[in-house]
Amino acid sequence: MTLPRVLIVSNRLPVTVHRGAAGFEVHPSPGGLATGLRGPHDRGEGWWVGWPGLSDDLSEIEREELTRALGEARLAPVLLGAPEIERYYNGFSNGFIWPVFHYLTGQLPFRSDDWPVYRDVNERFANAVAAHYRDGDLIWVHDYQLMLVPELLRRRLPKARIGFFLHVPFPALDVYRTLPHREELLQGLLGADLVGFHTTSYLRHFGSALLGLLGLPVAADHVVCGERTIRLGVHPMGVDAAHLGALADTPAVRDEAAKVREGCEKVFVSIDRLDYTKGAVRRLLAYESLLRRHPELVEKLKFVSLSAPSREQVGAYQDFRREVDAHVGRINGAFATPSWVPIHHMFQALPEAGVAALYRAADVMLVTPIRDGMNLVAKEYVAARTDELGVLVLSEYAGAAAELVEAVNVNPYDVERMALSYYQALMMPPVEQRRRMRALRTRVTGHDVHRWVEGFLGSLADEAKHGPPPATRRSPVAALPEVLAAKKLLLVLDYDGTLVSLAASPELALPDEELLALLAKLVARRYTELHILSGRTLGFLDRWFGDLGAHLHAEHGAASRPPTRKEWRKRDIPPPAWQEAVRPILSDFVRRTPGAFVEVKEAGLAWHWRRADAEVGARQANELGLHLGQLLSNLPLELLWGDRVLEVRPHGVNKGIAVADLVARRGKGTALVAIGDDRTDEDLFAALPDDAVSIVVGERPSSARYRVANVDEVRAFLRALL
Ligand code: G6P
Repeated sequence: MTLPRVLIVSNRLPVTVHRGAAGFEVHPSPGGLATGLRGPHDRGEGWWVGWPGLSDDLSEIEREELTRALGEARLAPVLLGAPEIERYYNGFSNGFIWPVFHYLTGQLPFRSDDWPVYRDVNERFANAVAAHYRDGDLIWVHDYQLMLVPELLRRRLPKARIGFFLHVPFPALDVYRTLPHREELLQGLLGADLVGFHTTSYLRHFGSALLGLLGLPVAADHVVCGERTIRLGVHPMGVDAAHLGALADTPAVRDEAAKVREGCEKVFVSIDRLDYTKGAVRRLLAYESLLRRHPELVEKLKFVSLSAPSREQVGAYQDFRREVDAHVGRINGAFATPSWVPIHHMFQALPEAGVAALYRAADVMLVTPIRDGMNLVAKEYVAARTDELGVLVLSEYAGAAAELVEAVNVNPYDVERMALSYYQALMMPPVEQRRRMRALRTRVTGHDVHRWVEGFLGSLADEAKHGPPPATRRSPVAALPEVLAAKKLLLVLDYDGTLVSLAASPELALPDEELLALLAKLVARRYTELHILSGRTLGFLDRWFGDLGAHLHAEHGAASRPPTRKEWRKRDIPPPAWQEAVRPILSDFVRRTPGAFVEVKEAGLAWHWRRADAEVGARQANELGLHLGQLLSNLPLELLWGDRVLEVRPHGVNKGIAVADLVARRGKGTALVAIGDDRTDEDLFAALPDDAVSIVVGERPSSARYRVANVDEVRAFLRALL
């Protein structure tokens, strides 16, 4: 597939710039994101917008020089000063979002006023992207440092195709909600057309946050917000497996690997950024336990631990480094012999070939984070093992564990058991190693970084072709002349949310004098037939509109009554035996949800949560929906989501069948106007002929031809008919 040009946007550029003795020095940036996207960027034609890792004050000339030099590689630097880095990067991104997303709320500082700077820097990124944007480009924003950028870009470039990918976990709602400005951050992401995650559980958590904090119900793979549909996808990131495999097979790398192995029988390796999420301390403790349990391993085993320096200005990272150093020192002190050191700890970043040599040298690769979005080191190790040997020990808490099931899985919180797993890995016969490594390699080479890029961008570009049409903005005033000129008028009106605003309980949403007078005038209008088509009960419609002279349709069309008769004609619906099964469940959710209540209808049961706390109500409704969905899957019943109400009703009873007769007997020259506000009214709109004047109230996406903002505008339109 040929893709449009792509603008990559990430906090860090794939290169980090330092001011050296001889001017600017450029090094590859650490971390999976930079490593993974470097290749795809080089092969493409677009720009990469990001911070070059430098926070010095630069002179105007230096800025220009740096911008020009990076520009040759299509890298557009966002130059941030020391105070911005301190507050946006160290403060809010890595002081708050990072620990929360990794479930480490204990690491959060007590106070922070860094949010405004996070927002401002996100604005600066959005400006830089907008400056490079050309019509048709795909914009791909990355990671937690830039969560507001999609929305900020949407304001600047309403038509742009914007994707966002989160490289870290998205935590469970209870953890996510500890984050200051949690709602704004979600809103920021909703500016995108596609939001991608490494695993289904991150996607699910994101859905719970949208529902719980913004009240937005999420479907399996999309969420509707105002007039836009945002797609959600699972796109596990991969590595450049072919490149790594080839590199690992070069003689230089093999020689280097042989050197690492000199003087010992078995090698353990761990490689990561020095980050408290990576589980270094527990990893060391398990190693210590292994040496205690198996003294015969002394002088036979070598543990090479490579930690790349990271975020050294953040307090929690400084503390963590001291802790790791202390454990390495203690274990080495306790077990070393004159000719042997149990742990070779290196606090530095190695070039790619050096890392590949470590992969090739490792009999056992320890990847044991306590929480990790994906962990590409695990995949790189597999990619480098073209010899099909070696054992991967992998934490259950790495996103990669969802795919790399043939690894030896460990729970990093259970140090003693982890030590047993180390031993199991160490003793694994080559036949078994091969069996597992082959399976792992199939997956890692098959789903490499190129597949990941194509999958995500393909999906984003595809959307550009087939995206949902924007919902209409047209005012029904445009249809007035045609309606007024018609010989006859059929008027179908929903009640709640259309003729009256939603109230705390249905009993409170009563028709006011003005409305009753207006409806009476419409009934009296020449050649006009008025239908009130509501989800309300028969009794309610009888009480308020029984003498109006209108046709009444109750409970979404389950029963109808012409103006001339007092009796209702009920449609054929299954006996309500099912209600006995469903009612206790609804009551249970009422008990658990302060403010929720059940409305019993002729044909259905409705669980309302408009009086409940918005967040609690939305969450409970979602759970109830899931629960009922399973229960009802084999019954002729369906679940109907209205505005803060969930209704169970017989299948096929909807507002569409109520107007079927009406549509069938409509003569030539009769105008048909239908107005409604919620999802139940979509059944009505769908049943209308193309030339009907359908009008939706509010911002919801709808198949209606026209739109008004609120109840007042509905009433104004009805008055215009008189
Ligand atoms: C993780 C994050 C990346 C980040 C990388 C390195 O992989 O998801 O966004 O770039 O760590 O961290 P740093 O703070 O040095 O950019």
